[in-house]
Amino acid sequence: EIAELIRQQRPLELWPAEYFQIDDNIRRRDALLGLDMPPGAALQAAVARGRDGWLAEMQASNLRGRGGAGFATAVKWASAKNAPGAPKVIVCNADEGEPGTFKDRVLLNSFADLVFEGMSLAAWAVGASQGFLYLRGEYRYLLPQLEAVLARRRAAGLLGTGILGQAGFDFDIAIHLGAGAYVCGEESALIESLEGKRGTPRIRPPFPVTKGYLGRPTVVNNVETLAKTCLIALGGGEAFAATGTAQSAGTKLLSISGDCAMPGIYEYPFGVPISRVLEDCGASDTQAVQVGGASGICLAGYEFHRRIAYEDVPTAGAFMIFDGTRDLFDVARAFVHFFAHESCGFCTPCRVGTSLLKGFMDKLADGHGAQADLADIDWLDRLLKNASHCGLGSAAPNPVIDTLQKFRPAYERRLVSLDFEPAFDLDAALA
Ligand code: NAI
Repeated sequence: EIAELIRQQRPLELWPAEYFQIDDNIRRRDALLGLDMPPGAALQAAVARGRDGWLAEMQASNLRGRGGAGFATAVKWASAKNAPGAPKVIVCNADEGEPGTFKDRVLLNSFADLVFEGMSLAAWAVGASQGFLYLRGEYRYLLPQLEAVLARRRAAGLLGTGILGQAGFDFDIAIHLGAGAYVCGEESALIESLEGKRGTPRIRPPFPVTKGYLGRPTVVNNVETLAKTCLIALGGGEAFAATGTAQSAGTKLLSISGDCAMPGIYEYPFGVPISRVLEDCGASDTQAVQVGGASGICLAGYEFHRRIAYEDVPTAGAFMIFDGTRDLFDVARAFVHFFAHESCGFCTPCRVGTSLLKGFMDKLADGHGAQADLADIDWLDRLLKNASHCGLGSAAPNPVIDTLQKFRPAYERRLVSLDFEPAFDLDAALA
């Protein structure tokens, strides 16, 4: 039924409501998912510290961006605060499009107050007055409930002018819907899209903190990053930094899917080994885990001792499990198709490279591949990685690079054998 609706290109708002009643499936709660906070409590605590005091608390927390790259959030906020230009802007990147990632959807569905409060906390630190939630087009069904949360927050004086009695603390949030392009999750393409243009990544620097939405200083943070700031406002930066590892403070939400008994959302302190996660979600006979989605890293069994942390295995949250029945070549090929489809077409290395890579993978799948194709794939991987304009192109070969290195037999068994008997004996003829 769903396939038919997609084929008909029926607008999402006309889909039957039951298709959107998706269970959040929260399996493990830690600091964030266990937080029971009345709306406004974190903001009150941050306002009581003053703008500089609150930013100092953020610095002490060592919070790093949960969108995958792990940039220091306090450094980002301080850069925007100190950048010339006004009004300053806070953008929540809710364009969660990475295959296998669904933790931001759960935060928006069940913890929207934490996300909006995080945006207000950023606005307080930076001195921003304009906020946008850039919502993934496929999450359009969340729009009415998110608007209702915003209305409640306005009525409670948590958005608007003179927030919490602070003269000059004026901030409100508008929701902007994406239209289904994966590349719009890249922050500068997102900003282009917000400005009403086609979502093409910009050249950085300048980074959004100095030149973002309409050229104004703009903070773009992931949904989870913003929600986490509530913990810091309530419990203080030092307490936040006390969990996790030396370089990765706090907890991380994982979206666990694939071959396991209990898929869903799990929250762990950073540093948790892959093997522990597999055990908790009831995975057995695991052949590989794709951490970080299509653009992430494919881990084989001998690497399951590794840890989820920026200093070891970083991830925006996807944790896809493949057991022994799966063909890792097919998995990589599906990811390559995804990237070829989602390439925005702006730069030639990505536009042509992803399409060529798809062609090679299809050729192998059809049984027409030869050893020489593996060498060409390797060359193409390097070209995409090094010459692409943005992260989409440079991440596109990741699934192939990893599986080719760690599961090479999955490729080699598809190659046409060249061990044939020659039609005549060349050596004899020459003699
Ligand atoms: P990046 O490392 O270039 O930037 C990360 C953040 O830090 C950005 O907000 C950027 O503006 C900021 N930043 C970097 N240098 C700065 C500076 N000197 N001054 C001020 N701000 C600065 O990473 P990028 O290109 O934004 O994202 C790539 C990452 O995204 C990858 O690591 C990948 O893991 C992740 N990713 C996440 C996806 C998801 O769905 N969440 C999908 C695909 C990739």
